[in-house]
Amino acid sequence: MIDPFDLTGKTALVTGASQGLGARFATVLAERGAKVVLAARQVEKLETLKAEIERSGGVAHAVKLDVSQIDSISDCFEDTEQTLGPVDILINNAGVAISKSVLEQSENDWDRVIETNLKGAFFVAQTAAKRMAARGQGGSIVNIASVLALEVIGHLAPYAASKSGIWQITKTMALELARHQIRVNALAPGYIVTDINREFLEGPTGQQMVKKIPQRRYGDPADLDGALLLLASDAGRYMTGSILVVDGGFMLQ
Ligand SMILES: NC(=O)c1ccc[n+]([C@@H]2O[C@H](COP(=O)([O-])OP(=O)(O)OC[C@H]3O[C@@H](n4cnc5c(N)ncnc54)[C@H](OP(=O)(O)O)[C@@H]3O)[C@@H](O)[C@H]2O)c1
Repeated sequence: MIDPFDLTGKTALVTGASQGLGARFATVLAERGAKVVLAARQVEKLETLKAEIERSGGVAHAVKLDVSQIDSISDCFEDTEQTLGPVDILINNAGVAISKSVLEQSENDWDRVIETNLKGAFFVAQTAAKRMAARGQGGSIVNIASVLALEVIGHLAPYAASKSGIWQITKTMALELARHQIRVNALAPGYIVTDINREFLEGPTGQQMVKKIPQRRYGDPADLDGALLLLASDAGRYMTGSILVVDGGFMLQ
């Protein structure tokens, strides 16, 4: 029987693979047989992950990428094609969050979040899509959104705006790119403990907030494995323009 989650022979590019969710996503895709390109600014961390994946029998390649620089995005795709071949799967994951009240967010804060999470993510996805369309063999783009694309909490206005923008971009791209057999979906995690939020979630406010999650716990990066594989692989072949929420029930409250 054919395993629809099998990614053997596919090349997957994961942005923001140096830590957190991106590192987990790359590991899971490699375990399913994909050749993975690990992209981010901290190359030493990428090299460490590459060695770990290779030790487990996978194939990985590390590439320096700053998603806020257009030239860096095209260089990353050139490098990828020359080493592991054309990208079949893009996990558009790189992101930053700056937690400050609306009254305190500066222009620099706004620019940093929007240039990384929204402008950067758009041009990474566009670059992948142009190359997939030119090649004519389709592909899967998974944009990493957030429950904050749909809901709000305080102190993350630019971040929420960026993730809501990602959701709209996902739908527009899905609509336009279906004719090229390119699927575009978004994964919207709830609170998953990583470096982006560990201090906050493990602090006093975080300990109160966990009580609002029906499953009464924060997520672990591994809790996203199933949803990621569904969107990335042939198992999700009739899904495009979807936002898949994985949040322990947080959005029900
Ligand atoms: N953790 C959660 O609860 C949660 C929930 C919903 C959504 N998300 C989203 O999931 C994604 C990953 O978050 P995380 O929790 O894993 O955070 P994280 O641990 O802070 O990791 C963020 C990743 O993004 C990369 N990155 C940041 N700016 C970049 C840039 N300009 N160019 C390239 N890479 C860049 C970082 O790598 P370098 O510093 O090496 O460049 C790092 O690998 C983000 O988009 C985040 O918004 C997270």
